[in-house]
Order: sequence, then C-alpha cells, then structure tokens
Amino acid sequence: MRRLILGIETSCDETAAAVVADDMTVLSNIISSQMEIHARYGGVVPEIASRVHLSEIIPVIASAMDTAGATAGDLAAIAVTGGPGLMGSLLVGVAAAKGLALAWKKPVLAVNHLEGHLASATMMSDAIEYPCLVLLVSGGHTLLARLAAPDHYTILGATRDDSAGEAYDKVAQLLGLGYPGGPVIDRMARDGVDELRFPRPMIAQGLDFSFSGLKTAVRNYVRTQRECDPKRVAISFAAAVMDVLLAKISLALRPGGFRSVAVVGGVAASPLLRERLNEIRERYGIAVILPRLSMATDNAAMIAAAAWPQFLKRGGDALDFGAQPRWHLRDSV
Ligand code: KG4
Ligand code: ZN
Repeated sequence: MRRLILGIETSCDETAAAVVADDMTVLSNIISSQMEIHARYGGVVPEIASRVHLSEIIPVIASAMDTAGATAGDLAAIAVTGGPGLMGSLLVGVAAAKGLALAWKKPVLAVNHLEGHLASATMMSDAIEYPCLVLLVSGGHTLLARLAAPDHYTILGATRDDSAGEAYDKVAQLLGLGYPGGPVIDRMARDGVDELRFPRPMIAQGLDFSFSGLKTAVRNYVRTQRECDPKRVAISFAAAVMDVLLAKISLALRPGGFRSVAVVGGVAASPLLRERLNEIRERYGIAVILPRLSMATDNAAMIAAAAWPQFLKRGGDALDFGAQPRWHLRDSV
C-alpha cells in the first residue's frame, strides 16, 4: 500500500500543498503565489497574506490531492509548517491541517520551515552524500548547517542581522525595482564588472553572516549620487553577496570532512549563484547539489519531505500545538 504525507505550507506569501511518498517521490507540488498582489505594495502585507491564504488553502489542498491521485485513505499523516513566519499566515495552514487531521483521523505534525528547506536537499537522495554542508539562503534566513543524515543536523553559522534574500529585496526597493527584488537584481547583475566594490561584511570572520552593513553601504551610495545607474549598483551588490556566500562555503569546507555541498532556499534560484558555485566544485572537487527551482523557493513538498523521518520517529503531535512565528532552528537531537 502507498504511504503518503500531505504537506501544507503558508508561512509567508505562498499557499502551498503537496503529496510526497515515503521514498521521497513528489506526487504533487501545488503553489499558489500571492506575489503579484503584494508587488503593488512593495512587499508582503501580512493582513492581506492571511486573507488570501484563507480563500486559497482548500482549493490548493484539493488540487494537491487530485494531482497525486490520492485519497484520505492513502495518507499516513498530515504535515504543516508551524513556524517561523507570519503569525496570521501560519495560523491558516495550522488550522487547515488540524481540521483535516480530525476529519480524516490522521496524525498531524508541525514542521519547522527551515527544516523544510534543509529537506529540499535531502530529498535528492541520489545526489547527496553525507556529511553534507548546506547553505540555506532565503528571504527570511541565511545559515550554514552540517547534515550528518536526513534528520540529523548541526547549525554551523547564521546571519546576525538581515538574510541574503532580505538584502536583495531591500536594495531592489532602494533602486525602485519592485518586489520581490531578488530575481530582478539577479537578472541585471548577470554580466558586468564590479566597479563600486561595496563592503563584504564578516567575509573572513567565522561562519556567521551579516548583510545589514552591505545594505547600508548601498543606501548611502544611492543617496549621495545625483544620478545612479541601477545596473551598476545591482552588479556590485550581487558580487558582494556572492563573494560572501562563496567565502563562507570555502571556510566551512577547508577543514575537510564534507562529502557534498547543497545550496537551498529562494536565493538558490539565482543563476548567478548557480554559476559561481562552479568555483566550489572545481576548487574542492566536491558535488554541489541544487534543488529544482520549484523546490528552492517556498513549497510544501519540502515540508512533507522533512516530516517523513519525524513521522517515523514520533508519529504525530498533540493537537494543541500553535503557530510559532519565531520558531528558532536548533541542532537536531
Ligand atoms: O525561500 P523563499 O522563497 O522564502 C523564504 O523562506 O524567505 O525565498 C525568497 C527570497 C526573496 O528574498 C527573493 O528575493 C529571493 O529569495 N530570490 C532570489 C531569486 N529568486 C528569489 N534572490 C536572488 N536571485 C534570484 N533569482
Ligand atoms: Zn522559505
């Protein structure tokens, strides 16, 4: 008999549901993005996000079950992002998951969104070799982790202020390029020389990150120029971010012991970053794993995938769990 987990993800501005089998086959991965709605306001408006989740959640779940050809009887469990994220957004997914768990008499698991991103690497089981160094670069987070096994990780370093994606989005806003800024800046920065040489904060200092100083340097530059060429700024900003990300991967790899590298999260969708990672492949002779684009940005398949080892270990969670907007990722036990 098939054993499937239905995953639900509503932590920010994507309403997503997916069905993933115990061998990590993704049977469906439905994402309804609110990006165009929020673009009008230059960023995610939490009130609007939760209202749109509310109208989208049931059709998105129904579509994920239909596309997978799954019925409630096929489900081993339901997994939902419990945090971190926007409170109102998280609550919609959590309430839907609990409601279905009660109606269908299934166990339900609250999954950390960041564990979901880590799972977008571990679910590529043909490519990954452990221990694997994972760089998670998203809109909300930037961290490095050591994965010893799919559900066994240690955090090696994290950002002390902004995430890389947040810096992309804020610089794009400064340049009037709209929301989300990552893909726009990334496209503009694809070719050209780094003339402005913005700072590379903490580049040689351990495995933590800092991006707010870079953002401030860009802001100061833009404010003091009478005319500012957005392409020139985008090229130099992206070069600084990429240099930092690559330097941190190198720093983590240098002592040895890793057998693969994975880069996950929204910024991993960047073709610029994907290209620069060849430097890591060549210098260290190590496999660099990149999730498919639909798995790099927020999705529910990664939540269901992260839930599988947890379901096998603990079965399910008591139904009184709530949304945890500031759920901190700690080393797994
Ligand atoms: O993982 P994600 O979908 O959501 C969070 O969990 O935060 O990441 C979204 C972030 C945004 O900051 C967006 O600007 C960035 O990923 N992003 C990119 C690209 N595509 C999305 N950044 C750089 N280049 C891209 N092509
Ligand atoms: Zn995310």
